[in-house]
Amino acid sequence: MSDPFISFQRKTSMSECNHIKDILNDEFIGKKVKLKGWVYRHRASSKLVFIILRDSTDVIQCVVKSDSEFFEAAKDLYIESSIEIEGTLRKDDRAPTGYEIDVEKLNLICKGEPFPVTKDQSVEFLLDIRHLWLRSMKLTRILEARHYIIEYLREFLDKEGFYEVPAPLITKSGAEGGSEVFEIDYFGEKAYLTQSSQLYAEAAIFALEKVYVLAPSFRAEPSRTRRHLAEYWHLEPEMAFYNNKMNMEIQERMVEYVCNKMGKEHGSLVKKIGRDPEYLLGIKSPFERISYEEAIDRANKLGCKMKLGDDFGADEEYILTKDLKQPIFITDFPMELKAFYMAENPNNPGHALCSDLLAPEGHGEIIGGSEREWRYEVLMDRIKENKLNVKDYEWYLDLRKYGSVPHSGFGLGIERFIKWMLNLKHIRDAIPFPRTINRFYP
Ligand code: 4AD
Repeated sequence: MSDPFISFQRKTSMSECNHIKDILNDEFIGKKVKLKGWVYRHRASSKLVFIILRDSTDVIQCVVKSDSEFFEAAKDLYIESSIEIEGTLRKDDRAPTGYEIDVEKLNLICKGEPFPVTKDQSVEFLLDIRHLWLRSMKLTRILEARHYIIEYLREFLDKEGFYEVPAPLITKSGAEGGSEVFEIDYFGEKAYLTQSSQLYAEAAIFALEKVYVLAPSFRAEPSRTRRHLAEYWHLEPEMAFYNNKMNMEIQERMVEYVCNKMGKEHGSLVKKIGRDPEYLLGIKSPFERISYEEAIDRANKLGCKMKLGDDFGADEEYILTKDLKQPIFITDFPMELKAFYMAENPNNPGHALCSDLLAPEGHGEIIGGSEREWRYEVLMDRIKENKLNVKDYEWYLDLRKYGSVPHSGFGLGIERFIKWMLNLKHIRDAIPFPRTINRFYP
């Protein structure tokens, strides 16, 4: 490959440059603009070259005429070549975003090689070149929306007086007690990638009362559904002195806050991705609450064949939620279906003080939460009943020895939340580099 940087002579900071989104506006008509970006589409004839230029914000059509000294350079570009252009803006209703630039200067930054992504390629191929496919219009906009969704989740929790705390990703035991953990070699000892930061968030409430961890969780579940990742981002708030009723109330207010704010502040962005902003503005708490038994009943009326004691999988949750417009809580799951740390409901023996929040339109579970067992002896019995190694949980049991308090918390799967909010078909599009059962490259 020849040196791609040959004509990158002038050093200009981005502040001397415009962003496309800012100039798609009548105020700039007739004005000189300067843009840096990548060739999104390219069409050349003997008289004109049309370049659709893209940057992080949008696309704009640029035209180079045959009498320009830059005509040959403009003809000789690839999709995704990086360029800098200067020119004058005019309105043109035929152009993709309504404006066009008459190019006066074109500076090639890197011509590169022919871009491997063309139309109609298989999903598998696009996943193989995910590092390049990220630049696609849809993934770019989803990444942008993901940024705001996380910003608003944090903003909500900050306003509610939470502190963000970190937790380790390498642990000695699985937080959810199950077998679905990734084992690693930790200097000759067995260790695991964390399934959840919850137990560490519980330790931190004795310092800061209301905390949250936002970190990856790892699940070695052999699931091939459209909503399972082996590595996902997990938001886990934990609150001292909260019962499960208060826990559910903060969850629904948080979901409402983030949906409404996205609809209000980023309506055109979510619309481009395929979600009507009015839908997000219409998410209103309180959400309906039904018990596990009621949920089984409802699912069976809708065509499922569930027995008491069965857990809801992706298919059952789809059936249960496909016609809903608002999220719904399922409460009081049988203790044996849930993790060892959950408190039992004294008014409903054998059932946990817990809830799953299911997103409507078939998306299914986005949050799992519960009141935690806070008594030392009961928790010790639970650990033994669940055949967990007491030694691995000694530190966690300590939390119940020294000034234990009732507390609750929940975990929201960031990508599941994004999948619902943006109405994505598959969870893998909610994260730039998805880890699924059959893929961990690139
Ligand atoms: O219901 P889960 O397993 O609960 C916990 O991990 C608790 N420790 C949370 C807590 O109370 N702090 O997981 C919580 C959420 C689910 O509701 C779902 O949104 C998401 O994590 N999740 C997944 N997301 C993507 N891929 C997977 N394989 C997921 N497994 C769970």
